[in-house]
Amino acid sequence: MTSPIPETSRPRATNTSPPLDTDTAAKKLRTASLWEALPALAYGGDYNPEQWPVEVRLEDIELMRQAGVNALSVGIFSWAWLEPAEGQYDFAWLDDVMDNLAAAGIKVALATATAAPPAWLVHKHPEILPVAADGTVLGPGSRRHYSPSSAIFRRYAATMTRVLAERYKDHPALVLWHVDNELGCHVGEFHGPEDTAAFRAWLERRYGSIAALNEAWGTAFWSQRYGNFAEIRTPGPAPTTLNPTQQLDFARFNSWALIDFYDMLVEVIREVTPEIPATTNFMVSSATKSLDYFDWARHVDVVANDHYLVASDTERHIELAFSADLTRGVAGGKPWMLMEHSTSAVNWQPRNMTKAPGEMQRNSLAHVARGADAIMFFQWRQSKAGSEKFHSAMVPHGGTNTRIWNEVVDLGAALGALSPVQGSRVESRTAIVFDYEAWWASELDSHPSTDVKYLELLRAFHRALFLRGITADFVHPSANLDGYDLVLVCTLYCVNDDAAANIAAAATCGATVLISYFSGIVDENDAVRLGGYPGAFRELLGISTEEFHPLPEHETVELDNGSTGRIWSEHVHLAGAEAVASFTGYPLTGVPAITRHATGKGSAWYLATFPDPAGLEGLLDSLLAESAVAAPVQADSGVELTRRQGADGASYLFAINHADSEANVQAKGHELISGKAFEGTIPAGSVAVIAEG
Ligand code: GAL
Repeated sequence: MTSPIPETSRPRATNTSPPLDTDTAAKKLRTASLWEALPALAYGGDYNPEQWPVEVRLEDIELMRQAGVNALSVGIFSWAWLEPAEGQYDFAWLDDVMDNLAAAGIKVALATATAAPPAWLVHKHPEILPVAADGTVLGPGSRRHYSPSSAIFRRYAATMTRVLAERYKDHPALVLWHVDNELGCHVGEFHGPEDTAAFRAWLERRYGSIAALNEAWGTAFWSQRYGNFAEIRTPGPAPTTLNPTQQLDFARFNSWALIDFYDMLVEVIREVTPEIPATTNFMVSSATKSLDYFDWARHVDVVANDHYLVASDTERHIELAFSADLTRGVAGGKPWMLMEHSTSAVNWQPRNMTKAPGEMQRNSLAHVARGADAIMFFQWRQSKAGSEKFHSAMVPHGGTNTRIWNEVVDLGAALGALSPVQGSRVESRTAIVFDYEAWWASELDSHPSTDVKYLELLRAFHRALFLRGITADFVHPSANLDGYDLVLVCTLYCVNDDAAANIAAAATCGATVLISYFSGIVDENDAVRLGGYPGAFRELLGISTEEFHPLPEHETVELDNGSTGRIWSEHVHLAGAEAVASFTGYPLTGVPAITRHATGKGSAWYLATFPDPAGLEGLLDSLLAESAVAAPVQADSGVELTRRQGADGASYLFAINHADSEANVQAKGHELISGKAFEGTIPAGSVAVIAEG
């Protein structure tokens, strides 16, 4: 019997991820065409004109001109308006919108409109709905109510994408495809019958045989052996702990299943508009764990990210820096787009705090400082109805006689003045290794301590670097580490042999490499590397640990350098390394807590506990001194510093004063926003971008 589902809409047979860091020539051309079409820094937001009558849409164009808007994402949730009934299309309103935007010189990232299936489709095919681990079917009336492995949904989504692509392929406003929206948002794992089938097929491709899967999953344990792939389920409710490798593979599968859905839509787009780049908006932040964005980044033509502050976080500007650095990391250092952030409050936190005057501009320029060449918002005009009506926007409910509107206009002018920085790259000699698989695997249950959280030490080191004005790049464990003088490896619990060798090579080639506790413990299948921890890095570090000693909650351990540690300690033996500091309390008195091993032209340090702030700073200062890494210029505390460098040798210093008083920055040059010579001071809460020299 022939399948009614066209080939392109079935989950593909193999994982076709191109290798990390390799862009094809065609991809390079598509990406270049985007930045050529947007010659200045892009500025704009999500535009949902279907929520407004025609006269408001016309006013929008005038206001966009006033604000300096030059780019919009259009039609993200428009499916029900574009296809009100199956096969009946209404493009008249979108034609008008596209034409008016083109006439105003505004470029469009046109959405595939697939992020919210219309009611008629769900009514006809409820089997497209996503199913949660406990079997709950997640229904319509909201958004993102589909499974990426549903063959029927894939067919409808592919058709909608093709119809849109055919209609707008030659439209002068179209510069980018915005595929679906925040894939993986709200629902990150899928447990329906088609998901289970896709999971089994994915496992079969990964392992080739059930014997190989049994070996990788360690199913000799608890009689978990499988006779064939059909016996395998998605990990769901069970009497007690589940097989950890099954859970890790399910996390890998879910990220892949969403990529596969993205790729399927892009295949349609490529057939119709081979030269128009495509992307989707990522949710890279210190909170998004469910998607492997290093893997995702290989599939998009340009990395686009959405970032929202958690208003109750008193150090939210540092979290922003972390997320922006991580976004640049997944983008491989290339310019990226901030596709969404907010002008002020959001609507989805328990208490949705307003941004302080000037905070929106600081946020926006901090993203530019860390590599963004587009600053866009959710959304252009604040909705009148619906669950996001209290979410801020560029045009607030109060209209243009408002602080938000004035700040939106000012930001447009500032971004206009910053157009010379477009295309320049952020300078960094420090790498922080980041791996989603290690994040997933390190936080599975049945581990030595529930207090080991993947991000905590990474964020502590990033924060300490931020406060010193030092920019770090986040890099995948297998990334090229040439050019980094300092490499920090925190909680890299699982690592494959190649990545472990890559990190070791950085040290032998001259870098200072720091590796923390609970790194290099297992391989990519979550199987322990035997013979003494940390198996993957034992030789590099010149140590061997015989037993972990996790600490009781809230308890600390003392070190002989005057600092304390929390969460973790362990019984380290020296095997070539020297002890830099040791534990002092029973039963680890005299056992090394921080070690250093000279290796090749560089060194490999080990950290066997989570140091208190002073201990962490002292350790970081030693590492910075050894690697000769420093801030780009001297500045008062409270000033965020980064530097972007152009291919033409131009150098742009970003200095953001987060303090309540004027700050000194020892830099010379031309300040781009004011258009004047930089005088050496920045007012409280202000930003200077100095073309140095
Ligand atoms: C994003 C989403 C937008 C909007 C925004 C609100 O997750 O892509 O459509 O909902 O959040 O903050």
